[in-house]
Amino acid sequence: MEPLANYNRLKALNLKLDMSRGKPSPEQLDLSLPLLAISDYKDDTGVDARNYSNLEGIPEARRFFAELQGVAVNECLVGGNSSLELMYHTVELLRNTYGKGKWLCPVPGYDRHFRVTEVLGYELISVPMTAEGPDMDEVERLARDPEVRGIWCVPKYSNPDGYTYSGEVCKRLANMSAAPGFTVIWDNAYGWHHIAAKGDELPNFTALCKAAGNPDRAVAFCSTSKITFGGAGVAAVSSSEANINALVKYFTAMTIGFDKLNQLRHVRFLKNEGGLAAHMEKHRAILAPKFQKVLDVFAANLPPEVAEWTKPNGGYFISLYLNAGKAAKTVQLCKEAGVILTPAGAAYPYGKDPEDRHIRVAPTYPSSDDLQTAAELLCVAASL
Ligand SMILES: Cc1ncc(COP(=O)(O)O)c(C=O)c1O
Repeated sequence: MEPLANYNRLKALNLKLDMSRGKPSPEQLDLSLPLLAISDYKDDTGVDARNYSNLEGIPEARRFFAELQGVAVNECLVGGNSSLELMYHTVELLRNTYGKGKWLCPVPGYDRHFRVTEVLGYELISVPMTAEGPDMDEVERLARDPEVRGIWCVPKYSNPDGYTYSGEVCKRLANMSAAPGFTVIWDNAYGWHHIAAKGDELPNFTALCKAAGNPDRAVAFCSTSKITFGGAGVAAVSSSEANINALVKYFTAMTIGFDKLNQLRHVRFLKNEGGLAAHMEKHRAILAPKFQKVLDVFAANLPPEVAEWTKPNGGYFISLYLNAGKAAKTVQLCKEAGVILTPAGAAYPYGKDPEDRHIRVAPTYPSSDDLQTAAELLCVAASL
């Protein structure tokens, strides 16, 4: 069918679909419902998790996340439901210690990361992403500026490209010269979220920084937001013992402790790294066909002169790259036909994609049928 006729046909369906944010679907949330039922509230040391204490997290939760993140227990703090909140306060503490300055932002990247450093007063500097991670020649060049205080990294199945950093990029980030206090926010939000049967491998960045003589450089985060519940999971941060102690001291002014009951029921449910891997296989069974569906619709409808896109082995997103100047108009056409996408430019500092090429596609939340229709509409709008 001719694209305009096809667009009008889809528009006439009065669609109301949302592919804007990477949320787990209701079916995925249901996988973790059994964790809500617990009747014994004592942690491993006999402390009642319902009461105040243990700002750094209950012992079994610290052991669980330390194992996942490949650090010692005293190098790990377990917090509330949001890793983004832990990142916000970590950057706030860095700003209070070293002052405002510039922050490196691999692009396209996670809009909420960029917003954290923006509202905390940093100047955002874009660095191009490659399939191996950020362009390290550029990172090393920019970090010679003593005003550069840190970099955002989503090292595995990056948001939004789905790329995993190579061993070489990880080593260079750990070893490169930078101003004192230069911090790599290592947001491993999708570390266990494989889509392909064989997932990508990521080196232990905290260990690399230690070996490079920069033990305080890596501050690594993760959460169960896309493992158990998007709004009611558990988040953790790992780093050198000195950094964790500084965070504990900082958080002491803010809270008496995080939700330990949620920590306890999460550890009882997920148990250990093996238990987590088995649980993630259930997510993979739901998500792999959804990702494949979008990729199939793109392959069938988008010729190479119109678009190219990423084919991730994991994570929550696909990046669609159109010809320069076409992304915002395509998103607008989709909106007018009832399909909401992430605003064009959202994955760039200050919400501005200088080439107006990139659209972030989030296939996790819609049902399979809705996904098919939404992806078809996106292809028609891009072709128009
Ligand atoms: C890269 C990345 N980090 C962090 C988050 C938010 O994590 P949390 O729910 O733990 O705050 C997201 C959510 O989309 C994300 O994509």
